[in-house]
Amino acid sequence: MTWTQKEKNFLKDLQSEEKLCAEKYHKAAEAACDGTLKQILQKIEKAEQGHCDTVTGMLAGTMPAPQSQGKAQAGRARSAKSLKAKTTRAQKQSDAYLLADLLATEKYVAGVYNTAVFEFNDPAARQVLAGIQQAEQNHGRELAEYMQANGMSC
Ligand SMILES: [Fe+2]
Repeated sequence: MTWTQKEKNFLKDLQSEEKLCAEKYHKAAEAACDGTLKQILQKIEKAEQGHCDTVTGMLAGTMPAPQSQGKAQAGRARSAKSLKAKTTRAQKQSDAYLLADLLATEKYVAGVYNTAVFEFNDPAARQVLAGIQQAEQNHGRELAEYMQANGMSC
C-alpha cells in the first residue's frame, strides 16, 4: 500500500495521538484509586497500544483486517452496581478528574479519525480507520458509564 503525502501525514499524526493515548491510560491506571476503574483503564490502554500498532503497520504499508478493531472492543455493558466505587470522597474526586480528562481525549481522537476517514482514498483503509473511530467511541461510552454509576458528571 502506498499513501499520498496527505495520508502519510494523517497516519503520523494518528500514530503520535495513539502513543500519547496509551501513555495517558497507563498513567491514569497507576493513579486511579478504585480497583475496578484501574482494570478498565488498563484494558483500554492495551486497546490504544493495539491502535498504535495498527497505525504504525499502515505507515509501513501493512493493511490489517478491518473488523479486528471495533468488534473486539464493543464489550458487554457492566451493571451500574458492579461499577460502584468503594473509595472515599476525595479519592472519588481524584478519579473523576482522570476520567474527565480521558473522556475529552477520546472525543478529540475520535474526531481526528473522522476527518481521516474522509481524507483517505482506499476503501479498506477508510474501513480500518472508521473501525478505530468506533472503538474510541466505545471507550468513551465505557468511561461515561463508570462516571454515571458513580454520580460523576460527564
Ligand atoms: Fe485509540
